[in-house]
Amino acid sequence: MFIDIKDKVIIITGSSGGIGKELAIKFAELGAKVVINGRKEEKIQEVYNIIKSRGCEPPLAIQANLRKYENVENLINKTYEQYGKIDVLINNAGGSFSAPAEEISANGWNAVIETNLSSVFYCSKAAFNIMRNQQHGGKIINISSVAAFLPDVHYSPYSAAKGGLNLLTETLAVEWAKYNILVNGIAPGFIDTKASINQGSGDTNEIALRRRGKPEDLFGAALLLVSDLSNYITGETIRVDGGLRGALRNV
Ligand SMILES: NC(=O)c1ccc[n+]([C@@H]2O[C@H](COP(=O)([O-])OP(=O)(O)OC[C@H]3O[C@@H](n4cnc5c(N)ncnc54)[C@H](OP(=O)(O)O)[C@@H]3O)[C@@H](O)[C@H]2O)c1
Repeated sequence: MFIDIKDKVIIITGSSGGIGKELAIKFAELGAKVVINGRKEEKIQEVYNIIKSRGCEPPLAIQANLRKYENVENLINKTYEQYGKIDVLINNAGGSFSAPAEEISANGWNAVIETNLSSVFYCSKAAFNIMRNQQHGGKIINISSVAAFLPDVHYSPYSAAKGGLNLLTETLAVEWAKYNILVNGIAPGFIDTKASINQGSGDTNEIALRRRGKPEDLFGAALLLVSDLSNYITGETIRVDGGLRGALRNV
């Protein structure tokens, strides 16, 4: 096969739903050894069952709230114990609530920053400890958002976290290049998942392709970054947004 990801060990955080779930299933179907994660056991179990029912190697399922570093270490260490290597870490877990900036409490702010930015640093740091000792290095893929490029009205901590995430991607790419650890990002536009539908967000008039995306629309960019075809790409965040260029939301 031209793109071969068979037996690559791929951790996908927040893969108990939405985009992460779709990526986990598709990578498993291509023969990767996937590690799935989320906070809610029953949602993780559902993804485990889907992957198993398709005749793929059953995933390693690890329940963990990634806002705590000790949980992250457990996720990374269990993966290493199971497979003896970590080829790819996809930092996908994320989410936010919506509120005008002046109504957001310090706790609310911190929760969104921890979920979308600090957890990515924790996971990357813990994975680095394994990847730096691998001859082939490793790959880290951060799921960002168009909210990193455009003001996301009523999502100020989310927009700030994703903007910070893009520069974290660039910084880690430069710092860890000497270990052949490649760090890239994908910035989705409006993608139909439970989270985004509940928020009722996105005006298709602002999208050049005039439609919202589906989780499978992220797969091409993710596959490129997971595979050896991207071995000379690092520090890059690819927008997968159907050509969204206008306002994300109006006040
Ligand atoms: N959908 C969009 O339009 C869109 C657009 C741009 C960017 N994104 C980004 O894409 C990523 C996936 O979004 P999605 O739409 O697929 O969201 P989703 O359907 O809500 O799924 C989010 C996943 O993250 C997990 N998660 C959340 N907080 C976590 C934590 N503290 N520790 C561990 N797992 C946690 C959830 O698990 P539990 O339910 O068990 O907590 C779930 O598996 C996010 O980073 C999001 O910011 C999405």
